Amino acid sequence: MPMPVAVVISGRGSNMEAIARASLHAGSPFKVVRVIADRDSAIGITRAAALGIPTSVVPVRQFADRASFDAALAAELDASGAQLVALAGFMRILSAEFVQRFEGRLLNIHPSLLPKYKGLDTHGRALAAGDSHHGASVHYVTAELDGGPVIMQGRLRIQPGDTSDTVSARVHTLEHIIYPHVCTLIAAGRVEWRAGAVFFDGAPLKAPLIEESDAAA
Ligand code: GRF
Repeated sequence: MPMPVAVVISGRGSNMEAIARASLHAGSPFKVVRVIADRDSAIGITRAAALGIPTSVVPVRQFADRASFDAALAAELDASGAQLVALAGFMRILSAEFVQRFEGRLLNIHPSLLPKYKGLDTHGRALAAGDSHHGASVHYVTAELDGGPVIMQGRLRIQPGDTSDTVSARVHTLEHIIYPHVCTLIAAGRVEWRAGAVFFDGAPLKAPLIEESDAAA
């Protein structure tokens, strides 16, 4: 039986859609069973519904504090039966308690080559620093923001004349490759979380798996 996956979003949900479309391929080892947003304005909810995926909204504004929102989100995830949770453009910081509850089955995608550029404006910061390369990282979520062990990175070369917008578009293209790929590797049992470390094909992963993008470069 395919591994049930939930995707949690706040916005347009293009990564969610890439994960969901991959899961619809015959033989996919995972299946997206629920897409959850923290606001009903999230366009990704409409996109998920169009793909026939059950959706729900846990409206952040209706909760007095982070603890009660996180508890409601956790309850929704539990009800979905998901064994793996993919945060994809989810714009909330989750409590340490939530992260601990989902330890080892909670993923995030971040638009930089972590550990570089945790936080916001990653594209602008990579350009301002004159970096030769930039990209995105899929990582397990731990209590440290954008600090959990990285599983896979999509890397591209920054080109002369690149702007935040042009780089962002190419990073997105890479994100749509690496996030479904990581879900597949986890569901197939090739990537595992063992006591805070990532294992790949039974051995500790010493450096992130890399997807180089010539096409997107
Ligand atoms: C992506 O760039 C991802 O790296 C970041 O938020 C963005 C989400 O985009 N965490 P989308 O909603 O999947 O289109």
